[in-house]
Amino acid sequence: MTAHHETKDLSALNTLALPCVAHDYTEVSSREALTSYLSGLDSEAPLLVLGGGSNLVLPEALSVPVLQIVKNDVRYEKSGHATLVHVSAGVEWDALVAAVVAKGLRGLENLSLIPGTVGAAPVQNIGAYGVELKDHLLSVEVFDRKLNNFVMLDAEQCDFSYRDSIFKRNAGRFVIFEVTFRLSPTTPFTLGYGELKSLSLDEALDAESVRNAVIAVRQAKLPDPSELPNAGSFFKNPVVSAEQFEVLQARHPNLVAYEMPNDTYKLAAGWLIDQAGWKGESIGPITIHKQQALVLTNVGKATQTDVLVAARILVEDIHVRYGVVLEIEPVVVGSNETT
Ligand code: EPU
Repeated sequence: MTAHHETKDLSALNTLALPCVAHDYTEVSSREALTSYLSGLDSEAPLLVLGGGSNLVLPEALSVPVLQIVKNDVRYEKSGHATLVHVSAGVEWDALVAAVVAKGLRGLENLSLIPGTVGAAPVQNIGAYGVELKDHLLSVEVFDRKLNNFVMLDAEQCDFSYRDSIFKRNAGRFVIFEVTFRLSPTTPFTLGYGELKSLSLDEALDAESVRNAVIAVRQAKLPDPSELPNAGSFFKNPVVSAEQFEVLQARHPNLVAYEMPNDTYKLAAGWLIDQAGWKGESIGPITIHKQQALVLTNVGKATQTDVLVAARILVEDIHVRYGVVLEIEPVVVGSNETT
């Protein structure tokens, strides 16, 4: 089976709507096709695996090979009181959440409406409203280009942490083919996040109601990429030492921060950018979203350069004001390198 390489315009396939033409684009839909495709590539050669394009800052011309897994299977397997859900990388993330919630399976409802595919979700360990993907993930089946074989990684081997994983740290090595979740109808809901707290008073609460509440919160704050192109939170929430936190808090009594393990604090980057006066402001064709300053939106015909210029200005300003260095959350793809 020979893979079909083509030139493809990715402008509509990335949620920031950045212009991008890939000169070596291929779709595969089976293990055999994936193996055959990768056998034609040096194991160290750069490769961009494209999911929903919701966490990418793409260049105008992309010469590295781009691969998309287009398989869409979901299989359910009983395992005691729990259900194992085996999902192909190409399935749309929110379609999966909707499907498991409709079956009364709990665990993923707080992750409703996150754009992207199931295959991309483990890369940045997607998280929202107190839940992270790692909390309900059992294993990930990948093609390991270094070992030249399919390998099953359990959650521990994926080495997940906040918006990070073995996949993000070893870009290009692993191609995620299938993800398995362990869900159950009795998993307790996670309702600690501000707008979800009131739900805990409802004794008959079901996963569908939690999903609907999460969708309402997201729709109030986060722009729909199909209406206003964006890549979700553009920066990670920075983690600082207790010492730095105390200095900042003394200077800014309203500082929003969360206590973390090892005497550290996670600051709300959106708050920092908002307090610095950037909310609703524009830098060229990039506007800092007026409901959530952590989201950069493409309101014109922005290119990767425009996005990076805006990001650099924000990073510098926040550094000068607060002494904190913000880190870009989506993957910035070079035109000639791996991601
Ligand atoms: N805040 C402001 N002004 C703003 C934005 C936020 O003051 O413009 C304050 C809020 O009032 C709140 C705090 O900052 O007190 C945190 O804001 P929010 O709850 O909206 O969450 P976040 O920390 O900005 C993170 C994730 C989101 C996720 C939400 C909810 C990251 C980088 N982002 O945002 O994930 O949906 O928490 O759990 O961790 C994404 O990764 O793309 C994403 C949207």
